[in-house]
Amino acid sequence: MSTYAVTGAASGMGRAVAEKLTAAGHTVIDVDIAEATVQADLSTPVGRREAAAAVLERCGGRLDGAVMAAGLGPAPGRERPRLIAEVNYFGVVELLEAWRPALAAADDAKVVVFSSNSSTTVPMVPGRAVRGLLDGDIDRVLGALRIFGKQAPTFAYAASKIAVSRWVRRTAVTSGWAGAGIRLNAIAPGAVLTPLLEKQLATPAEAKQIKRFPVPIGGFGDPDHLADWVVFMLSDAAAFLCGSVVFVDGGSDAWFRADDW
Ligand code: NAI
Repeated sequence: MSTYAVTGAASGMGRAVAEKLTAAGHTVIDVDIAEATVQADLSTPVGRREAAAAVLERCGGRLDGAVMAAGLGPAPGRERPRLIAEVNYFGVVELLEAWRPALAAADDAKVVVFSSNSSTTVPMVPGRAVRGLLDGDIDRVLGALRIFGKQAPTFAYAASKIAVSRWVRRTAVTSGWAGAGIRLNAIAPGAVLTPLLEKQLATPAEAKQIKRFPVPIGGFGDPDHLADWVVFMLSDAAAFLCGSVVFVDGGSDAWFRADDW
């Protein structure tokens, strides 16, 4: 049986993954801001360091995998762009960098990072914000998003998911992770009916935008199905999967970019 760290395990898709892994007999070290074994605020550097250290202590220096599901959606608010950048990008990258030796110790560890199809379907996301994230320069990120005013959270969200996907693809193959036996991949869901989406649907302006968004098969994704994909991406069947971003989004990414190949 294996040991997995799961962030965002108190709700939505992270919770569904944690429940499936536990039911299969694995040990799950669940991380979240509340209602978790490791409680930490991933929107602060201190919280991220504490979360990383607490997981390392609990896993005894060996992790068979990690699922990075903690994230904030593009809700309105002045502080939201910063929080999105901190949780969705640094809350993934800093923890995984701290866990790398423990993942390498497992020999064939698997990591699944939650991206989003917002990474390919939101137009005009400023490259400066994405590069600012990859360079760890939060002031540059916020500066690049300021021109969007009240829409800044939407672009912050898309930038965070582009940056985290780019980090996954680069790190998986060029920073020695593949050589260390770590399979680093991302999943890019479309709109999935979790508390994150429910909050957005409860705001009329956001609900209108979500309902107008093209989803070729219609409706919303089921968190349980997404969790099955993640569990599959942690399984032996994913031994040859490396640096991939797997879209599970009802066809929206294909709708927007069928010819981008
Ligand atoms: P959710 O809101 O149900 O769960 C997210 C979890 O992250 C919550 O338990 C929350 O407490 C935790 N979290 C948020 N801020 C935190 C912080 N500062 N410190 C520690 N934990 C924190 O969301 P859902 O929908 O399950 O999302 C999971 C991932 O999937 C997120 O990264 C999200 O961006 C991504 N995603 C979600 C989609 C959707 O439609 N639901 C679509 C595409 C991607």
